[in-house]
Amino acid sequence: MDPIRNPYAPGAGQRPPELAGRDRELKQFEVTLERVAAGRPDRSMVLSGLRGVGKTVLLNALRSLAVKRAWGTGKIEARPDQSLRLPLAQAVHAAVREVAHRHRDPDKVDQVAGVLKAFALRTELKDRKASSGQSRWQPPIDVLAAKGRADSGDLELDLIELFTDVASLAGDLGVGIALFVDEMQDIPLAELSAVCGACHEMSQQGAPLIVVGAGLPHLPVALASSKSYAERLFRYVVVDRLPREMAERAWTLPAASEDTTFEPKALEELYRLTDGYPYFVQAYGKVTWDVAVESPITWADVMQAAPEAEAELAVGFFGARYDRATPAEREYMTAMADLGEGTDDLAVSTADVARLLGRKPQSLSPARDGLIKKGLVFSGERGTVAFTVPHFGKFLRNQR
Ligand SMILES: Nc1ncnc2c1ncn2[C@@H]1O[C@H](COP(=O)(O)OP(=O)(O)O)[C@@H](O)[C@H]1O
Ligand SMILES: [Mg+2]
Repeated sequence: MDPIRNPYAPGAGQRPPELAGRDRELKQFEVTLERVAAGRPDRSMVLSGLRGVGKTVLLNALRSLAVKRAWGTGKIEARPDQSLRLPLAQAVHAAVREVAHRHRDPDKVDQVAGVLKAFALRTELKDRKASSGQSRWQPPIDVLAAKGRADSGDLELDLIELFTDVASLAGDLGVGIALFVDEMQDIPLAELSAVCGACHEMSQQGAPLIVVGAGLPHLPVALASSKSYAERLFRYVVVDRLPREMAERAWTLPAASEDTTFEPKALEELYRLTDGYPYFVQAYGKVTWDVAVESPITWADVMQAAPEAEAELAVGFFGARYDRATPAEREYMTAMADLGEGTDDLAVSTADVARLLGRKPQSLSPARDGLIKKGLVFSGERGTVAFTVPHFGKFLRNQR
């Protein structure tokens, strides 16, 4: 069928034509926004799950809800080895800009901009250099940096001061500030702890500022080990595969708006192939659409599309990640895949990986740590590792 009208959207962070199965989270977040704007205590949200389940897309949808309520919003994507100060300053700046132009007191706006500048200028030289390739952002130049506020160098203290002032600006307008952090598991532990500390302080003050996070499955564990009270700050939402009915919505609703339907057997096969993982839902939906000649789309269309969809995923979704691994890391993952066979690639024990490779566990630490840093595997529980990418074990086994 006409590829130009193909509604499906495989790709990291690509907004799906139908955001299926996330109504509960969206509703919950609306309540949170209302409560926080009214100065009532509420927990913010942290999304966690494997790659390709739709965390980024949901995070963006939550941001849209905040924007619709005229909140100030900003977003960052955390990276390993990158200090949070500069990216956070940038996100806060974006959020401030969204509310400042409606504020009645220009002096107060300038004051907050000065504090933001002071906060940003405390960025260490090495971090400024590290980020110069990625962002051209500069602190506001039309104001002087404040002195003695948000510039101590202690991230937690500085964040508390910055957040307090920024929240007050939004509070004057009856709205709040929401900062969205993607790949939150990549924030170094000390900084994660500072962010939690600042959020805790905001909630105690009833200040309308929240941090909403998304990251890999071990993010809740990382948060809990950064501050013991993290669990009371955030509502942990596990983003996961779509149940059958929701996956079917993700295929049929966008098709319906193009006057196209699916035979039930086609949907059944699509679900079997994709397991309801959102990235696969979009990828198989897209190729199937292109292969099909007319509505309704049939089982035969799906069967014809499957090898092509699989090949595209092998390059774009799996291959792109596999290519980033060193030979030693690949060997480690291959052992994980062998051990995971028949278990749906649940977590495997690092001791078993070592045994299979005939090596001492310690000698494999660099490979394991490298894979964790590259976001290919995670350790949800001590002594275990699992793939962050669904069906990755199967992909590796099929390589041979
Ligand atoms: N609820 C959903 N319904 C249908 N498709 C979705 C849904 N959530 C995500 N997708 C699709 O899945 C893919 C991966 O989404 P993304 O947000 O990048 O995942 P993650 O951030 O968890 O890796 C995208 O192509 C997106 O369009
Ligand atoms: Mg993502």
